[in-house]
Amino acid sequence: DWTMGDYAKNTIHTLREKIGDGKVLLALSGGVDSSVAAALLSKAVGNQLTCIFVDHGFMRKNEGDEVQAAFKDRNINFVRVNAKERFLCKLAGISDPETKRKMIGEEFIRVFEDEAKKIGKVDYLVQGTIYPDVIESGAGDAAVIKSHHNVGGLPDYVDFKEIIEPLRLLFKDEVRALGKELGLPDYLVYRQPFPGPGLAIRIIGEITENKLLTLQEADWIFREEIAKAGLDRSINQYFAVLTNMRSVGVMGDGRTYDYTIALRAVTTTDFMTADWAHIPYDVLEAASNRIVNEVRGINRVCYDITSKPPATIEWE
Ligand code: XMP
Repeated sequence: DWTMGDYAKNTIHTLREKIGDGKVLLALSGGVDSSVAAALLSKAVGNQLTCIFVDHGFMRKNEGDEVQAAFKDRNINFVRVNAKERFLCKLAGISDPETKRKMIGEEFIRVFEDEAKKIGKVDYLVQGTIYPDVIESGAGDAAVIKSHHNVGGLPDYVDFKEIIEPLRLLFKDEVRALGKELGLPDYLVYRQPFPGPGLAIRIIGEITENKLLTLQEADWIFREEIAKAGLDRSINQYFAVLTNMRSVGVMGDGRTYDYTIALRAVTTTDFMTADWAHIPYDVLEAASNRIVNEVRGINRVCYDITSKPPATIEWE
C-alpha cells in the first residue's frame, strides 16, 4: 500500500542521499508548490537549505507574514526580501498588462539574483514544478496568451550545478496531501492559485501604493465573506479586482466619485476553462455592503459573470 507518509519518507531519504552535504537554494513564492518543496527539502537537509522569499509587495493582505510564520521555526536559512518600494518605483506610470508582467518578472529575477549572490555558489536549485506543469510545457506550440513569469525563469541567473524538482510526479491534490504530511499550515496547503505578479495584475492600469492598499482591503473582505459562507473550498478561485473606472455615488449628503471593485469567482478543474461561480445573492450582498462601507475610495461593486473562454480568470 502506498501512503503519502511513505512517499514523504522515501523522498526525504532519496534527497538526503543525493544532496549529501551540498548547498541548496529555493525561491519561495508562498504558493502551494514552492512551500511544499521547501518543507520537503527542510526535512531532508535542514540548514543546508536557503529559501529566498522575494516579497514584491503585491501579495494579498497579511500573506507575506503568513509565509514567514510558516517557515520561521524550521531549521533552514530563510530570507525574506521586502522589495515593495523597489517594485512600486519600477512600475510607476506603467499601465499595459504585458509590460507590467514582464517588468515584474524581470525585477523579481534581479532581486532574487542580488540575494542569491550573497550566498555564493550553490550546488542545487529547487523548483516546485508539478506534473501538470511538465505536461503543459511539453505542449510546445500552444499560443502564449499571457506570459507566466514563474515558469522557466531563474536557472540562468544563479550559479548552480543541478536542478531538483521533487514534486515532478505529483498532481496538485497529492502536493497538498504531502504538505499536510509535512506539517504545513492549512492556509498554505489550501491556498488558491495566485498569479506570480500578484495584485499588480488585479489593479487595472497604473499601480499606486494607495490602490494596492485599497485592493488588499476589498479582497480581504470578499475572502472573509466567502469563508464565512463555507464556500472557500468549493469555489476554486475568488478575488477582487480594482478596476480603473470611477463613477458617481452618494454618501451621506455628499456626492462621491470613486473607484469600482469587481468581484471574480470561478469554478474549474484545470483553470484552462472556468465557469463563473453562482454565489448566493446574500453572500454577494454582504461582501458588497462591507466593501463600500469599510474601504475608502470604493463606491460601487460589480460581480463578474463571464466564463472562460471568452474571458480569462484574471483581468490582465
Ligand atoms: P487566466 O487569467 O489566464 O489564468 O485565465 C489562469 C490561471 O493562471 C493563473 N495565472 C498565473 N499563474 N503566474 C502564475 O503562476 C502568472 O503569471 C499567472 N497569471 C495567471 C490565474 O490566477 C489562474 O489561476
